[in-house]
Amino acid sequence: METNKFLIFSVYLVFILGAVESFEYLDKELETEEGLQDMYERWRAHHNVAEKSPDRFNVFKHNVRHVHKTNKMNKPYKLKVNKFAAMTNYEFVNTYADSKIGHIMALRGNLKDEAWGFSYENQTDLPKSIDWRQKNAVAPIKNQGQCGSCWAFAAVCAVETINAIRTGKLVTLSEQQLIDCDSTGRNNGCDGGIMQEAFTFITEHGGLATDASYPYEGHKHPCDKAKFGHHSVTLNGQEMIPPDDELSVMKAVANGVVTVGMDPYGDDFMLYSEGVFTAPGGTTSMHALNIVGYDETPEGIQYWIVRNSWGEGWGEKGYVRMQRGPAAPQPKGTCVMYGHPAMPRKDPDRPNNEL
Ligand SMILES: *[C@@H]1O[C@H](CO)[C@@H](O)[C@H](O)[C@H]1NC(C)=O
Repeated sequence: METNKFLIFSVYLVFILGAVESFEYLDKELETEEGLQDMYERWRAHHNVAEKSPDRFNVFKHNVRHVHKTNKMNKPYKLKVNKFAAMTNYEFVNTYADSKIGHIMALRGNLKDEAWGFSYENQTDLPKSIDWRQKNAVAPIKNQGQCGSCWAFAAVCAVETINAIRTGKLVTLSEQQLIDCDSTGRNNGCDGGIMQEAFTFITEHGGLATDASYPYEGHKHPCDKAKFGHHSVTLNGQEMIPPDDELSVMKAVANGVVTVGMDPYGDDFMLYSEGVFTAPGGTTSMHALNIVGYDETPEGIQYWIVRNSWGEGWGEKGYVRMQRGPAAPQPKGTCVMYGHPAMPRKDPDRPNNEL
């Protein structure tokens, strides 16, 4: 499996940083093979894609036609020919979107017995809308690269936000520490993991180090244990948000950033550009993301503000709005995103280490 992945992706080089400006094309370029070939060359230059092959061109054509066709439909979201446009959906999901959330949660079993509880279960005065970015409580968009570490990015974002809410200071924290060190349980570096285990790990190992003290490398290394308990944000365990229940997710988001697992299969999510994503998606929770707020459009389409870890070039500057409310699939949510919601807990008087 690992060798396979390595073979596929060592020949397929995408420079995942940069290229924030979106790639534009003219309808008539799709009409001829020459037009598509020119478009492929322009796209390669735009995204600094070194690889070129007939296979990749075939995939590119498939994706371009899919974007074109979908954008002519009357959907509340649009797609774009982004940096992933020469990947098949299978390759894409395996490379960028597979933290195996549902799989690992099933192995781990039911968390109901654990004594954390849900602090916000009785909250009734929910705001009509909220956006933690506007309260300076969400770090800038990050980029996981070709490492199945979305679980670490989602966990870290939620910890950054609860810390910002409790202390008034937004500090960027370390995904790499989780990738290197949190491998005693179900979590496994670039090969997937779950946020619930990450919160337990952080609680039990002296907190989560800052990005500055334990920077991102995108590969698993030996754990630097000397960093435990230094320059770190501490936690007091985590919230038990009831699964498959939209109102509980809302109560949680009203109090911080929530991590969710979703099913990213389908070309639409890979090529998402803007608008409210409404596709029902699949059934398997794989890719980890953060809900950082909620609101509705002027037309009354209710949505979550969801943060991804694929750089600013994907979606709405790195974010996607996903449909919520009665029009979304219930009780599981768009792309089964209510299956395994999680959130760290930090008591207001809990001190950090050397911050
Ligand atoms: C919510 O209300 C119920 C019933 O009054 C109570 O038993 C429970 O402890 C409350 N939960 C929290 C987190 O305060």
